[in-house]
Amino acid sequence: MGTHRNWIFGPWMLLFLLQLAGASHVVHRSLEAEQEPGSVPASIVSPLLRTGYHFQPPRNWINVITVSDNGPLYYKGWYHLFYQYNPKGAVWGNIVWAHSVSRDLINWIALEPAIKPDIPSDQYGCWSGSATILPDGTPAILYTGIDRPNINYQVQNIAFPKNKSDPLLREWVKPGYNPVASPEPGMNATQFRDPTTAWYADGHWRMLVGGLKGARRGLAYLYRSRDFKTWVRAKHPLHSALTGMWECPDFFPVQVSGQNGLDTSETSPKYILKNSLDLTRYDYYTVGTYNNVTEKYVPDNPSGDYHRLRYDYGNFYASKTFFDPVKHRRILLGWANESDSVTHDKAKGWAGIHAIPRKIWLEPSGKQLLQWPIEEVETLRGKPVSISNKVVKAGQHLEVTGLGTYQADVEVSFEVSGLEKAEAFDPAFADDAEKLCGIKGADVKGGVGPFGLWVLASSGLEEKTSIFFRVFKNGHGKKPVVLMCADPTKSSLTPDLYKPTFAGFVDTDISTGKISLRSLIDRSVVESFGAGGKTCILSRVYPSIAIGDKAHLYVFNNGEADIKVSHLTAWEMKKPLMNGA
Ligand code: FRU
Repeated sequence: MGTHRNWIFGPWMLLFLLQLAGASHVVHRSLEAEQEPGSVPASIVSPLLRTGYHFQPPRNWINVITVSDNGPLYYKGWYHLFYQYNPKGAVWGNIVWAHSVSRDLINWIALEPAIKPDIPSDQYGCWSGSATILPDGTPAILYTGIDRPNINYQVQNIAFPKNKSDPLLREWVKPGYNPVASPEPGMNATQFRDPTTAWYADGHWRMLVGGLKGARRGLAYLYRSRDFKTWVRAKHPLHSALTGMWECPDFFPVQVSGQNGLDTSETSPKYILKNSLDLTRYDYYTVGTYNNVTEKYVPDNPSGDYHRLRYDYGNFYASKTFFDPVKHRRILLGWANESDSVTHDKAKGWAGIHAIPRKIWLEPSGKQLLQWPIEEVETLRGKPVSISNKVVKAGQHLEVTGLGTYQADVEVSFEVSGLEKAEAFDPAFADDAEKLCGIKGADVKGGVGPFGLWVLASSGLEEKTSIFFRVFKNGHGKKPVVLMCADPTKSSLTPDLYKPTFAGFVDTDISTGKISLRSLIDRSVVESFGAGGKTCILSRVYPSIAIGDKAHLYVFNNGEADIKVSHLTAWEMKKPLMNGA
């Protein structure tokens, strides 16, 4: 739970040990509060580092997304987004459900918080949850309440709109029969939270609640109800694995082919189970099958529970999906915290953004999901700048000019001239893309790659964030390995910033010679989609020179083999309505 701050290894390890002892939450917070990196540089508080088109409230702390499903909290023409929010400051605490509405998931209007502590079973906090549209069209919100001080004892509550004819759903009421689910003897009451959107089959509603059993078993408790009021825990969880606590579980059917999404209550041969692992602070998912008679979910790849696929290999956590009935798609929303100190967060007065909503669907092979920014984000694009058929020779770079690149959308198709020069892949890194990228960063010369983009770069290249690919030969008869990296190690001259390298492998056939990259650049965030959304990486960076008009964009090639930019288009992005900020 909490923030994504693994930058001081010592506390993180301590946290791990404490979590094993079942005491993580409260401790996580106080460790963060203790970090004091000194004075705050002017560039950090510059409005030019506040994101322009990523979701943010005008001020303060935000975390997890809470959307709905079915007719999502798409209700009477409006998308409703609820999120964890501290009305009093830029650190986690005093958590309420803030509420914004949108017609297009890009322009947002902030309303008053929807759910605040005001009943005995949520008086110490209204934590994450999900919404479900009931068959008569009524939205219902299930959420976690904290019902006693200090020990974070977690129960599940329900709330309904006060006035169903209000399309903005401004007021919510909590029936007297709350809470609807409480920890039972033998359950870990401090690790029991984040109910999912419910799904309906054969006379029963089902929902999941994340939990932890013993020291290491993360699990999704399954609850069933006939009337959405009385919920009974099934004897067995839907699924579990030895991974530590599962926060914010998400469970939904996907179509086997095509890009359309499915409502959560529809059935399909394939399902996705996502869990946010409190220990690593990453969102992992598996593709699998679900049987609503045995109430079991079985991942297609059993080892997938431990070496799992991630929605995003960067700073992206506690995400949720919902089915959009307007465009028949499933949309993923994720939270990206700052990659900076609490002192800086407090000085800025804000912390946390949401990723651009992504449409997700199952890749034809059935092995993983594909993700792509929702098409509505393209309404923010200004005049395009394009480059075609430009060769970038070994060790060279090429500047993309003619637009402001600090708030931009860049799509590029690369062609590699041959794989002969590719470096050999060391199988020791087969499970550790991040480590490999840490060793072979953007400035380490290679054979085929590193090639890609330098974004938020200063004109003298003292600062640059590199998003790139590197290709490796992989033994006889095996597909070459493609590594995608985000290397922020040179992103800023500001001292004491946490600048983690992020990386993932891309399951693509590079022997075709082609690979694409899209990067959404927004002042202090770079969100990248490799090979049409097979591998995605979101990074937070805080340049001190490359801000505003001083930010430049380049294509670079630090490999021995030439690279061709078959096509590149870049758009400066306009600022949407963003909660009145
Ligand atoms: C995720 C999380 C959830 C919890 C909420 C509290 O980061 O810890 O598990 O409900 O945040 O704000």
